Amino acid sequence: MTSPGSASAGNATVGLPKTLEWVGGDDGFLRLLDQTRLPRDVVFLDCRSAEQVHAAIQRLSVRGAPAIGLAGAFGVCLGAREWLERDRRDVERFLKGVDEVSDYVGGARPTAVNLVWAVRQVREAAYARRDAGVEAAWKAMLETSRRLLAEDVEICRQIGLHGADLIRDGMGVLTHCNAGALATAAHGTALSVMYAAHAAGRRFHVYADETRPLLQGARLTAFELTASGIPTTVLCDNMAGWLMSQGRVQLVIVGADRIAANGDTANKIGTYGLAVLAKHHGIPFYVAAPRSTFDRSLSDGRGIPIEQRGAHEVRGVGGSEVVAAGAEVYNPAFDVTPASLISGIITERGRVEPVTGGGIAQIFA
Ligand code: MRU
Repeated sequence: MTSPGSASAGNATVGLPKTLEWVGGDDGFLRLLDQTRLPRDVVFLDCRSAEQVHAAIQRLSVRGAPAIGLAGAFGVCLGAREWLERDRRDVERFLKGVDEVSDYVGGARPTAVNLVWAVRQVREAAYARRDAGVEAAWKAMLETSRRLLAEDVEICRQIGLHGADLIRDGMGVLTHCNAGALATAAHGTALSVMYAAHAAGRRFHVYADETRPLLQGARLTAFELTASGIPTTVLCDNMAGWLMSQGRVQLVIVGADRIAANGDTANKIGTYGLAVLAKHHGIPFYVAAPRSTFDRSLSDGRGIPIEQRGAHEVRGVGGSEVVAAGAEVYNPAFDVTPASLISGIITERGRVEPVTGGGIAQIFA
């Protein structure tokens, strides 16, 4: 599954290796940048089965809500291809296989709604072509996955353009986790806003929380931003409040994994604490996310499933155990920030600002 790769396959915006791509035609495979190896190694994983994609999502080789969704879409295509190869004539049997693989891949991680959203699109594409036979149904699934990938590039670019004016010369901008090109097909969400402001000539400084336990901020956000020439400082998560109190942060922008109908937002653990700190210091707190991250079936954030991850992620730092053996470990991967703490949500359709009110319904109208 692991294949050494080159960093030459450029990301559309920032000269980064591609987060993910489908390589080849109908007999092709999904190539993922293995984010567990960054920033030290640029290595790609070539996935040829739904099981390999499922495992890559679970171990965070691919991560970030939109990227998980896209990987999941191609993962369903790979699983469905095995059903096609078993029997090219029985479309009902094929669709049963599609259902099975959709449930399997869609369940790889619970919080980012983009995963089930993208898997649903691909499954529906197969059903829409059922009358044309198994091969046509499978081709429609791959076409849909490719379309979702291409659309994500443009959606993220639009998010950047809709948020860029929030960043002004001289600002300190704080972000958490990685909501950048590495978390999407290209550009990112929160970081897309920064790339757009940078491209417009604005000078600002980004503060990236390191984001324990898996250090997406230190490893991935700092990797992306420094590659793009945006001045970046990494801080430990527990330093954000003090940094704010020193007047060094004028804006916070984060990504999202699932946004309920009222604007309550699940994002990487630690986001909620940042929002409370931002409120206390009078600093605007923005979420940047595509519409595929909204789950309007949930009236508020209480229904958002929060992934609990293994204790080893907290116990280990740099390969050594740092937690006393007798202690238990708490490791929720996400938290929920109430809409009341969010100044606005930046989407590809514009900003929802304020979040409370009819704004969310309007971006779906
Ligand atoms: O556990 P991860 O690394 O998948 O968590 C990612 C995040 O929380 C991101 O902030 C979120 O998915 C937004 S990505 C554009």
